[in-house]
Amino acid sequence: EDPRLARIASAIRVIPDFPKPGILFQDITTLLLDTKAFRDTIDMFVERYRDMNISVVAGIEARGFIFGPPIALAIGAKFVPMRKPKKLPGEVISEEYSLEYGTDRMEMHVGAVQAGERAIVIDDLIATGGTLSAAIRLLERVRVDVVECACVIELPELKGRARLEDMPLFVLVKAA
Ligand code: PRP
Ligand code: MG
Repeated sequence: EDPRLARIASAIRVIPDFPKPGILFQDITTLLLDTKAFRDTIDMFVERYRDMNISVVAGIEARGFIFGPPIALAIGAKFVPMRKPKKLPGEVISEEYSLEYGTDRMEMHVGAVQAGERAIVIDDLIATGGTLSAAIRLLERVRVDVVECACVIELPELKGRARLEDMPLFVLVKAA
């Protein structure tokens, strides 16, 4: 196993009972304070994707906006934000997804991507997989070829990977 992974894992702070009782929150803000671990995190994604002809890095608001842009710059791809409703000023397409209570919606500018482009989708964490699967649906609706999803952290107990069906998922750290 890559020796960088242990440092990355230990730089993620785990906070019990946030935002509510029973939730073990995976806090990536401490990873951002550790300049070596943050750099290693970006490098590991860049090493994986630099030779895969990726032209789109789609990052999911909010924490996908932290990891996506440095990866996009390093591999020579454009960064496309996947945003919460009513934030984007141009023409958007949107996709609903379910939350624990109710639904939310994700939006993307239609002109940001072209049919046939190769994309990866980046977020900090996959839990149930609902967020990432909405991002995949949005991109596939405009005929973008989603090659893989990538997260810093996976919570395997929540089985989000299964919800992505056959879409490959690359993660650095598996958490309880
Ligand atoms: C968290 C996390 C992922 C999503 C994963 O974001 O950053 O985006 O939940 O959950 P899922 O796999 O069950 O869909 P959150 O919606 O809390 O918002 P934020 O990133 O804007 O803080
Ligand atoms: Mg998020």
